Amino acid sequence: MGRGSPIILFRIACLLWISLLLAHSAPETALVTQIPGFSGTLPSKHYGGYVTIDETHGRRLFYYFVESERNPAKDPVVLWLNGGPGCSSFDGFVYEHGPFNFETKQGGLPKLHLNQYSWSKVSSVIYLDSPAGVGFSYSENKTDYITGDLKTSLDSHVFLLKWFELYPEFLSNPFFIAGESYAGVYVPTLAYDVVKGIDDGKKPILNFKGYLVGNGVTDEEFDGNALVPFAHGMGLISDDLYEEVNRACTGNFYRPQTDSCSSKLAKVEEDVDGLNIYDILEPCYYDAELMEAKDSKIRLPSSFQQLGKTDRPLPVRKRMFGRAWPLRAPVRDGIVPTWPQLLNGESVPCTDDEVAMSWLNNEAVRRAIHAEDVNVAGVWELCTDRIEFRHDAGSMIKYHKNLTLRGLRALIFSGDHDMCVPFTGSQAWTRSMGYKVVDEWRPWTSNRQIAGYTQGYENNLTFLTIKGAGHTVPEYKPKEALDFYSRFLAGQPI
Ligand SMILES: *[C@@H]1O[C@H](CO)[C@@H](O)[C@H](O)[C@H]1NC(C)=O
Ligand SMILES: *[C@@H]1O[C@H](CO)[C@@H](O)[C@H](O)[C@H]1NC(C)=O
Ligand SMILES: *[C@@H]1O[C@H](CO)[C@@H](O)[C@H](O)[C@H]1NC(C)=O
Repeated sequence: MGRGSPIILFRIACLLWISLLLAHSAPETALVTQIPGFSGTLPSKHYGGYVTIDETHGRRLFYYFVESERNPAKDPVVLWLNGGPGCSSFDGFVYEHGPFNFETKQGGLPKLHLNQYSWSKVSSVIYLDSPAGVGFSYSENKTDYITGDLKTSLDSHVFLLKWFELYPEFLSNPFFIAGESYAGVYVPTLAYDVVKGIDDGKKPILNFKGYLVGNGVTDEEFDGNALVPFAHGMGLISDDLYEEVNRACTGNFYRPQTDSCSSKLAKVEEDVDGLNIYDILEPCYYDAELMEAKDSKIRLPSSFQQLGKTDRPLPVRKRMFGRAWPLRAPVRDGIVPTWPQLLNGESVPCTDDEVAMSWLNNEAVRRAIHAEDVNVAGVWELCTDRIEFRHDAGSMIKYHKNLTLRGLRALIFSGDHDMCVPFTGSQAWTRSMGYKVVDEWRPWTSNRQIAGYTQGYENNLTFLTIKGAGHTVPEYKPKEALDFYSRFLAGQPI
């Protein structure tokens, strides 16, 4: 065929037309073309960028979007939120269910491997840093850093509407909201605003199908009462103390009314004090330098020298801070201290958060994922104390009622060895909703092994435990987590 043949010209015209069309979908400027630390081929498209929430204040929320590696045109889109308040959703990206596993490299950038249990295997995931002040999200007007549940939710809703305007090709995909820990508040409040937006005809109309909450803060009373039965059931306190504390407190552990109740609770605290709050089976880790200093002076027993060692190829994080929340500072109406605030201004001392710290504060990485540099967005921190946060939405139970009665599907999952937001609280509040049991308590399986237990209620409310998992479920049980996640999104029984 000669040059200038009509067929070729027609094809060129078609290509131009298609590229014009594409210009109206996902913003090309947000496309991530290379990722420092990763040398392979990306299994799906990644995008990173900001959505401006308030022009005059210069308030901008950062997102990282991972397209599904299966069928992005059909697979659900899931918004992921970590908690805190004040913790970046890169916690989930780096340590839980993101597309990569991060291998620490001494004195250099971490090496990135593909994560075979990434949630992007079955869904497209938006990791959002929220509210402004957290992670890479920021505001030019610092008064925005004084915030709370309701404002955070309104901003996240504005984010979603604007995000789907930027990525209209995903509007018809089933949409879910998911999160963990303090996102037990973010998820239902945002879900409620999304539903209200749909009712009010706010465009674009999202195809909102349901939500997932993992070890989520929900209700002052249920969460506050969860620790004592958890500690007893796990064999952490004696039968005698359990009977005494029940007698002294008459079932009210969250707000002790008498001195005898307070003193029995103090005894419970004493017994569980040295445990790793995020997973009572994991060792408590201590500062390496302190250990070395001690090492040179005294011979430590070998069990002590083994602290922090694990046979996992990519271990879960070494968390060294002790139990501080929510037992000592339960989530109540009013100011919720951020982690660094709880720890008197110290940054969260997690030795292994160094992988995220070094990667996300590397200039080339920030440029590659389109995060502003440090003089605009600040140093990236896993959990920040830049914000002052008020819990002003009260109990989440009324939100869960409203949302499930509207036909949204809800999965309330719990790592059953987490002592931070123990499963006993989530089990109790889901039961308290008064819904009929439609799928009676039974084991669920992954890889032909029992992976935990589940109870299904009417109105598509499901409670699920993950056996042996801590606070951040996919970090501890990635395979099992991908299994229940896929089944839930697909509307299959778990
Ligand atoms: C920041 O926002 C507050 C509240 O809207 C406003 O009163 C103040 O003038 C703003 N500051 C700047 C420097 O724009
Ligand atoms: C949920 O909340 C909306 C908005 O306040 C209200 O109109 C609706 O009646 C509530 N639905 C249920 C089932 O409680
Ligand atoms: C539960 O979800 C299924 C599948 O998404 C849906 O068909 C059904 O109507 C829902 N049930 C209720 C009670 O909302």
